[in-house]
Amino acid sequence: MSRIAGPSFTSLLHRAVVLLGLIVRAFVLYLRVVLSNRGWLRWSDAASVASLHALAVRFVRAAVRFKGALIKVGQMASLRIEILPSEVTDELAKLQDRVDPHPSGEILQQIRVELGQSVEDLFETFSIVPLAAASLGQVHRARTHDGREVALKVLYPGIERSVSIDLAMTKLAIWGFNFFVVADLMPVYRELRDSILGEMDYIREAKASEEIAANLATDPDLAARIRIPSIDWSLTRKRVLTMEYIEGVKINDSAAMAERGFDVDERVGWVSRAFCHMMFRDGFFHCDPHPGNIMVDTEGRVGLIDFGMNQRIEPDVLAALRRNVLASVTRDADLYARSLVEAGAIDPCDVPIVKELAELSFDPAYYNLTPQEVANLDLGEYFERTRQQLKKIRSFRLPVGIVMWSRAITLLYALMVELAPGIRPLEVFGPYVMEFLRGGEKPEAATENGTKGLNRSIPDASKSV
Ligand SMILES: Nc1ncnc2c1ncn2[C@@H]1O[C@H](COP(=O)(O)OP(=O)(O)O)[C@@H](O)[C@H]1O
Ligand SMILES: [Mg+2]
Repeated sequence: MSRIAGPSFTSLLHRAVVLLGLIVRAFVLYLRVVLSNRGWLRWSDAASVASLHALAVRFVRAAVRFKGALIKVGQMASLRIEILPSEVTDELAKLQDRVDPHPSGEILQQIRVELGQSVEDLFETFSIVPLAAASLGQVHRARTHDGREVALKVLYPGIERSVSIDLAMTKLAIWGFNFFVVADLMPVYRELRDSILGEMDYIREAKASEEIAANLATDPDLAARIRIPSIDWSLTRKRVLTMEYIEGVKINDSAAMAERGFDVDERVGWVSRAFCHMMFRDGFFHCDPHPGNIMVDTEGRVGLIDFGMNQRIEPDVLAALRRNVLASVTRDADLYARSLVEAGAIDPCDVPIVKELAELSFDPAYYNLTPQEVANLDLGEYFERTRQQLKKIRSFRLPVGIVMWSRAITLLYALMVELAPGIRPLEVFGPYVMEFLRGGEKPEAATENGTKGLNRSIPDASKSV
């Protein structure tokens, strides 16, 4: 088998040096923010936003050039709309757009090495211009000799080595920041690492898509509305994934949706329902529900693609998460705190303080607001009170899978904000989750500590919000 050209040693070294430069800049910036918050340094808001923006510009430049994990980190940060100024998130959002395609010779060679034959032999037609180029690989359209339209996802040659540099530098940065922040950020790093390493194995991705397709098929409503491309296993290897091609448009292409007469709100509802099914019933979910991964086909069905980032939640943590959501929907601070103990997130000694925190966030003034209402609220006092309470928690840990779970929820919420603004999250999530909680879908949800919470009469979510 011929070897594939990947990044050279000097280019990897260069990558490491540029990343180190970014980390040092981020550190300096962070320290200045901390010092000025404590009144030890005079630094105007305008100046701090300008410095953050300059850092974001550098970051985006490096990410577009180096691809790999940097794009993922940037995309994640661009979603943190509530903590970063819009100048910065707008800059980072550029990473949602596509990056430059990889040299086609290297891509064709990657396919030949993985599948053992050239594209000329494998396909009747193969489009050399990619449908999309992204962080870890790019996607090409082709037609097989028996006339099937397929999409080939091809991992960039040598990307594994580049990603290992990115991960080493990210770990270094997190190790450094850990000296300054209260929470241990290492679990966040570990989940990011596992997720990116998993994304570079297309066999794993293909299997995940089949498992999720089978899970969603148990709900006939969803099966009729959600489409997941089938896998062509004969043309799938670790670095090349061949699947059914979905003819359609992105769900956020409002002009195309209007032209075809497809109702966007309705489809956002189906997507939310599919994600609730994965996240609350199956405990195995797609973690990347941004508009780029959600298509609408010619018949108006929703096509879900890109299962590289997926996560499984252990049944006991899942049961605790369900109770946690139930507690939020029914505004039960006591159940809320107990569910976190069951999830392994806090120790029982912190129950009283977490209960107070929950009561604070269940305050009608702050509860279940639309994004628009949040924007009009003065949240200064709320954050200050929350911060004081958070400082008292002694035992906080992140259970495995929670980072990705939160990521999926955040993205889903961002999708609703973008495509169906004015939506009240609990009105969308609540009733569907209630079905699982009420119907006792999983026996473990009604055992031991959870019995009290589940046997109470559960109010209709839409009335309690
Ligand atoms: N099965 C498919 N049918 C049609 N287009 C696809 C298919 N799979 C991927 N694409 C196109 O390629 C893009 C990138 O694919 P995706 O799986 O999301 O890769 P990445 O992990 O790089 O985001 C998608 O946004 C979509 O435009
Ligand atoms: Mg994608």
